[in-house]
Amino acid sequence: MDVRFDGRVAIVTGAGGGLGRCHALALAARGAKVVVNDLGGTVDGAGAASAAALRVVEEIRAAGGMAIANGASVTDFAAVEEMVQQAREAFGRVDILVNNAGILRDKSFAKMGLDDFRAVFEVHVMGAVHCTKAVWELMREQGYGRIVMTTSSSGLYGNFGQSNYGAAKMALVGLMQTLSIEGAKHDIRVNCLAPTAATRMTEGIIPAAQLALLTPESVTPALLALVAENAPSRAILCAGAGSFESAHVSLTHGLHLGTGDGVADQILARLDEISDRDGDQVPGSGAAQGMLELTKGVVEHADN
Ligand SMILES: NC(=O)c1ccc[n+]([C@@H]2O[C@H](COP(=O)([O-])OP(=O)(O)OC[C@H]3O[C@@H](n4cnc5c(N)ncnc54)[C@H](O)[C@@H]3O)[C@@H](O)[C@H]2O)c1
Repeated sequence: MDVRFDGRVAIVTGAGGGLGRCHALALAARGAKVVVNDLGGTVDGAGAASAAALRVVEEIRAAGGMAIANGASVTDFAAVEEMVQQAREAFGRVDILVNNAGILRDKSFAKMGLDDFRAVFEVHVMGAVHCTKAVWELMREQGYGRIVMTTSSSGLYGNFGQSNYGAAKMALVGLMQTLSIEGAKHDIRVNCLAPTAATRMTEGIIPAAQLALLTPESVTPALLALVAENAPSRAILCAGAGSFESAHVSLTHGLHLGTGDGVADQILARLDEISDRDGDQVPGSGAAQGMLELTKGVVEHADN
């Protein structure tokens, strides 16, 4: 196994079950010292107990690995800071953060209350912000960090009944885009994982016949690649049933139409050309995308 984590310390949030447990076991099996975080609680975020995290720690230790349990809620910044302190006291550093904790509150938008929106944002978005904030300075000082945000196809492409969850998961893509830019000079690489797996979260959503293929174990290799020494940065890696794809927020070449009363009509008339994906690209930053537009305008002016 070339992908090893000897001497590395990893925090995996929501690692008491499902994908997080599988990530934690695999990291530990490849040499990482792991902080297994899990609040416990039900799939919609009610209740709290860290028994689940303790069970995973026992599994890791039984297999000869090193791990400690932590029961912080990722929504509680003070508790998250204590978790990072606990990691440093036990293992000396934090090299890898896997933001995996999550809940669901699925309803059609018509039926969804604002509390369902806020609860989902608090765990997925603020939870990842809290954990990342708590390790960021340390990773800058170390000149090394690997961070994964767990996004979802629901955010990337939408799913009925998941407006809160999808919006939160896409917010994590935005967080990753900027942090991968800001972290680059300290060798902090930030990526997104979009998994598909049979866990309690997908019970009743994915038909039983397909569940057997969608093991967490078939997703975890993607996580390992995204936190490896030679990991990419700014990737959005999709993984499910042993298949792996890369998703991109790409930009078409488009058209320069200038200004004037008729531009809205021209946009509608030439939407196929504007949307033509031949030669599309992924700009290096939001600012770079703005420069592309400006440059097209300047070139057009020079030509006229
Ligand atoms: N299973 C899938 O197909 C799928 C698809 C896309 C994204 N995801 C994402 O993958 C991640 C893992 O999900 P899973 O499918 O393994 O589900 P899961 O419910 O088994 O795992 C989520 C874990 O997060 C923990 N958790 C919830 N709130 C927490 C909090 N405030 N603080 C700490 N821990 C908390 C839960 O106790 C649970 O153990 C989630 O972020 C989920 O949104 C899963």
